[in-house]
Amino acid sequence: MNGLVRIVRGRILSFRDDPRLTGASAHRLIEDGAVRIENGEIVAAGDARAILTGAPPDAAIDDWSGKLVMPGFIDAHIHYPQTRVIGSYGAQLLDWLQKYTFVEEQKFADVSHCEAVARFFLDELFRQGTTTACVYCTVHPQSVDAFFAESERRGARMIAGKVMMDCNAPIALADTPQRGYDESKALIARWRGRGRLEYAITPRFAVTSSEAQLEAAGALAREHREAYVQTHLSENFAEIAFVKRQFPWAKTYLDVYARYGLLGPRSLFGHCIHLEESEVVALARSNSIAVFCPTSNLFLGSGLFDKKRLDEASVRVALATDVGGGTSYSMLQTAAEGYKVLQMNGQSWPSLQAFYQMTLGNARALGLQHRIGAIEPGREADLVVLDSRATPAMAHRMESHEGDLAEELFVLMTMGDDRAVRQTYVAGRAVKAG
Ligand code: GUN
Ligand code: ZN
Repeated sequence: MNGLVRIVRGRILSFRDDPRLTGASAHRLIEDGAVRIENGEIVAAGDARAILTGAPPDAAIDDWSGKLVMPGFIDAHIHYPQTRVIGSYGAQLLDWLQKYTFVEEQKFADVSHCEAVARFFLDELFRQGTTTACVYCTVHPQSVDAFFAESERRGARMIAGKVMMDCNAPIALADTPQRGYDESKALIARWRGRGRLEYAITPRFAVTSSEAQLEAAGALAREHREAYVQTHLSENFAEIAFVKRQFPWAKTYLDVYARYGLLGPRSLFGHCIHLEESEVVALARSNSIAVFCPTSNLFLGSGLFDKKRLDEASVRVALATDVGGGTSYSMLQTAAEGYKVLQMNGQSWPSLQAFYQMTLGNARALGLQHRIGAIEPGREADLVVLDSRATPAMAHRMESHEGDLAEELFVLMTMGDDRAVRQTYVAGRAVKAG
């Protein structure tokens, strides 16, 4: 891409703020717009005519006129070793982990398996328009090396970490407090801040970590303030009961993580469904992030995320697929299921808010809003091109559309999936295969 100017023309849609708070002024749509990209960065965005007039004669021009061009989607919680766990029948969380997930994750002892799955996984994210993700690897450091190496090769902005787990898991998947600490530390040294890569300290969840291991995770978080922390919280009733038995001194599930210093503005807690009031308060006070994983919560029968309660308590929220508990890699489908989950609680989710969440909202949750999540000069050129008439049924539905953006976006999330993603750009390069 060096030296080359690329122009991506289309209907440029980007958020500057949260539409829940600032309404219609939160987004900007340029119907005949264009983005100018140089060296993987957006250098200008505006009216197509102005951008094209200023372009050098040898600029590459990708004309997506009529299609929406948005910032690439961000998935705030996903497991790359679970690409062959997705769609496993009939179990709730703890049984599902034992029966399917822990079996599959053992295969990641083999480096060539890690590499092959990392390639498939990134191909699939890009096909779905996802350009950044917070990724759980397995307990094997080689699973992290393989994932980061492949992400680096593709120039993608990714956050990932080695799962730490030293109890209540098969021997082949268990580390120890010291090994989990040493291996994570070495991975942080090797990968964090290298190009577009960031590290997440990843104690899987309180069920599979001893006190000594959680203490080691807390030490890592103290020693590496620039790293993220990711784990699971209050997803399932049996899980919560297990945690209360394992840590009898803890007043709540979140108390376990709080005791070891694992809360904070870079800490992502997957699920957060069955929270006690004091947990909501602690999440808000610590500026931690609650990650909404709707397809997973429905598929594993876990429960309904209460977004309104968390919004009202000023808890930061992100949106994620949680594949392979989640059933789709598509952030569009994830938003659609999120809408339905909220409907079950008498809550709603306007499409503009959902698209904000998939882009700038998740970027803010990750503290990356100055790099990704918006189409603005200086941001990295991660983009998705969306076609709201991608399938016969969508085209048919759009025949009664009267030009309202919110309605079009709602059709896109309700009926759209990878077929609606016409192209994905990562650092200015077109990357959607097939
Ligand atoms: N809790 C601990 N591990 C997992 C996992 O892999 N998936 C989900 N959904 N929940 C978990
Ligand atoms: Zn998960």
